[in-house]
Amino acid sequence: MIKGHPQLTRNGELKHLLTVEGLPRQVVTHILDTAAQFVTPAEGGDGELGKVPLLRGKSVFNLFFENSTRTRTTFEIAAQRLSADVQNLNINASSTSKGESLLDTINNLSAMHADMFVVRHAESGAPYLIAQHCPPHVHVINAGDGRHAHPTQGLLDMYTIRHFKKDFTNLTVAIVGDILHSRVARSDIHALTTLGVPEVRAIGPRTLLPTGLEHLGVRVFHDMDEGLKGVDVVIMLRLQNERMSGALLPSAGEYFKYYGLTPARLARAKPDAIVMHPGPMNRGVEIDSAVADGPQSVILNQVTFGIAVRMAVMSIVAGHNH
Ligand code: CP
Repeated sequence: MIKGHPQLTRNGELKHLLTVEGLPRQVVTHILDTAAQFVTPAEGGDGELGKVPLLRGKSVFNLFFENSTRTRTTFEIAAQRLSADVQNLNINASSTSKGESLLDTINNLSAMHADMFVVRHAESGAPYLIAQHCPPHVHVINAGDGRHAHPTQGLLDMYTIRHFKKDFTNLTVAIVGDILHSRVARSDIHALTTLGVPEVRAIGPRTLLPTGLEHLGVRVFHDMDEGLKGVDVVIMLRLQNERMSGALLPSAGEYFKYYGLTPARLARAKPDAIVMHPGPMNRGVEIDSAVADGPQSVILNQVTFGIAVRMAVMSIVAGHNH
């Protein structure tokens, strides 16, 4: 592995996917191009139909130590479409609840001939720890760790933007809401800047924006009407109440008043702007149902594209380069 790049081999090949940060642009583009081959006509693409044998004989273990609907299910569908054998560890019914350490769990699953671990964990860095200690032939994919990174969400967001907007180099993208606690925002910001998006904006109250965003090339707005002016893409984020240690907001109603995406607010963006949200959504808190279900929403397209993007990531780390 390259020092400082724990996911790339000396030859620049992707061995694990732990973060988007530091991934070369050609690796990101290669993942998106590979994903395009897996988006079926029914899903809006012209890629391969049905199963492909790329992971035949391989065992993929889904280890979700934190809840998930979209990520876990689309990883499972993706692994099945790649012909892998998939094991979903039921964490609540596993020996983790009896005090078994994370690495002992990994060692035991490795002894069952795991080839790939897909890991979601509330602790930032847990997938890195696994990648450092698992057997050399095993691949680790981060499915969201704490507030640190959610690389496949970042990549499927990029796939969605490219699908609808074609070219990254003339876009203004606004990320709105609880950026402080959002692993999705961090992965999106790294991916957008890597792909050459000239203007990335962060919109939110001071209490929900981390310091140092400007150093990542992001323009900060506290006034949503100002921040949405003329944007091509709006990425809405959920208030991550489970990661807030104190009262960072007066109330959900007050938050919606200033930062909820309503049709009137969306009218500040370009007329053909798209609206995205990684889910889960809290309607009436960060987004109005009229927008979430409206003609500019591509929220469910994101979910569908997630299958192909996760197929691409799994096949690439396993060494199948298309
Ligand atoms: N976007 C996302 O990570 O959703 P889930 O928590 O349902 O996986």
